[in-house]
Amino acid sequence: MRQKQLSLGNVQRLRAFRRKEEIKMKFFVDTADIGEINELNTAGLIDGVTTNPSLIKKAGRDFKEIIADICKVTEGDVSAEVIAIDQQGMIEQGKILAKIASNVVVKLPLTGDGLKACRALTAEGIKTNVTLCFSANQGLLAAKAGATYISPFIGRIDDIHTDGMELIHHLRVIIDNYDFKTQILAASIRTPLHVRDSAIFGADVATVPPAVLWGLLNHPLTTKGLDQFVEDAKAADIKI
Ligand code: E4P
Repeated sequence: MRQKQLSLGNVQRLRAFRRKEEIKMKFFVDTADIGEINELNTAGLIDGVTTNPSLIKKAGRDFKEIIADICKVTEGDVSAEVIAIDQQGMIEQGKILAKIASNVVVKLPLTGDGLKACRALTAEGIKTNVTLCFSANQGLLAAKAGATYISPFIGRIDDIHTDGMELIHHLRVIIDNYDFKTQILAASIRTPLHVRDSAIFGADVATVPPAVLWGLLNHPLTTKGLDQFVEDAKAADIKI
């Protein structure tokens, strides 16, 4: 089904677009835990961070302090979500969050007020991440409002027995059709397959929980091969 949807024309267009813009897929980590971020940084695995109020609750510290700490150890974009749900409140909170550090991206819900706030903050040069996207039409509206990122929630769509990855594909086609600058940030990623398919379907970014990111490393043949090398090195008394 997915293969059929990804027609040859689209693949060619996507490749041409990629070459022209020299876009490389980025990994963000979906956590507010500074220890987890530091560990992933040591391995050079992440290009940015996303948070949401649920992750902040889990971290159990002051919201603005957490964002400031994350921004200090992260070179790329760090998403921080407003808690207001009205346009004016979101704009005010967005401006406060954007002052924390130059790499803060203001996360806004995909509602009418959220899109108005997106437009206003974008006009002031503040980066935005429009979140809770569950349909291609919602994504199209966010792109039209000037969102820096649109966050389709793959896992939560899969949770209701619908194909989350199809949304990534539809958004890729729509954004490329009209050359919107909005980047597709695949979110609510739960498994290594979500990461692989996000790359196949052309998401610009995947935001991945730390356990899933480290899980990408796992392969039984790597473990088996390494065990054998360690054993043989010992048997051969290799010293370096
Ligand atoms: C990231 O921006 C989202 O808030 C996050 O990926 C949601 O993931 P969940 O559906 O696993 O909570």
